[in-house]
Amino acid sequence: MPVNFTDNKDLPNIISLKNIEQTYDNGRIHVLKDFNFLVEDKPMQGQFVVILGASGCGKSTILRYIAGLQEPTSGEVLVNDKKVGADNRVSMVFQQYSSLPWMTVLDNVALSLQYQSVPLKERRERAMEMIQLVGLEGHEKKYAQYPNLSGGQLQRVAIARSLVANPSILLMDEPFGALDINTRLQMQDLLTKIWLKFNPTIIFVTHDISEAVYLGDDIYIMKRPPSKIVEHISVDLPFERTRATKREARFIELVHEVEDVMVKVVNE
Ligand SMILES: Nc1ncnc2c1ncn2[C@@H]1O[C@H](COP(=O)(O)OP(=O)(O)OP(=O)(O)O)[C@@H](O)[C@H]1O
Ligand SMILES: [Mg+2]
Repeated sequence: MPVNFTDNKDLPNIISLKNIEQTYDNGRIHVLKDFNFLVEDKPMQGQFVVILGASGCGKSTILRYIAGLQEPTSGEVLVNDKKVGADNRVSMVFQQYSSLPWMTVLDNVALSLQYQSVPLKERRERAMEMIQLVGLEGHEKKYAQYPNLSGGQLQRVAIARSLVANPSILLMDEPFGALDINTRLQMQDLLTKIWLKFNPTIIFVTHDISEAVYLGDDIYIMKRPPSKIVEHISVDLPFERTRATKREARFIELVHEVEDVMVKVVNE
């Protein structure tokens, strides 16, 4: 489906990126050009949006804009109809493990509550709830570092930490990229469970097409730099997905559809 951003004025947009340009080195490096991306609010419903695109096309850059970690060379970035600021409930899980190795698992998870001045006892209780949810109970006193914790466990710490402050927007940059296949499948199911429980809007970047179709409701595909979104695929699978979904004919068809678009886009 070609991309057609309607920008319905009746609803506040959750995320709106308009006419973004990103250049470096006085314009000699042109990463993003005429880049537009809109996530409209669907009341009482979280959304799961996946971004796909070749390495270097600017996916992490876009997440950094939404998180307020970077400003584009030009263009407008709005989150909940406002310029990105401290009051936006946005959390990010980075491409690399990003726990603080000199702190315990419990302190890592409780950290974002500390920034919000939540009292210590409540911080610990809420952090423990999250630690249980991601299956790390019993590890909370360990330092959050390899090899005390495995790669998959460290990524669970990062996910628990990003969720504990109850974000309305969760940005996930290839969060499962470094995991073995079994851990990755477990983490996909954990994320589905979390999404159904907390209903945040998730913007998820991956290189794995099957993961994109399994998790996403909307898949946006970016072209090579100077990059922009060139395709939108709406995933018409049941709302709740299980491992069995991956065996369904429509799932397999969608994976091929996305793959064909990716190949076409690379050759453009
Ligand atoms: N300070 C900088 N100077 C020059 N180029 C930069 C700078 N920062 C980022 N870039 C370039 O911007 C482009 C987009 O980077 P980004 O990390 O967003 O890509 P990506 O789509 O996330 O790639 P990957 O899939 O490999 O993670 C890359 O080509 C990168 O080299
Ligand atoms: Mg990246």
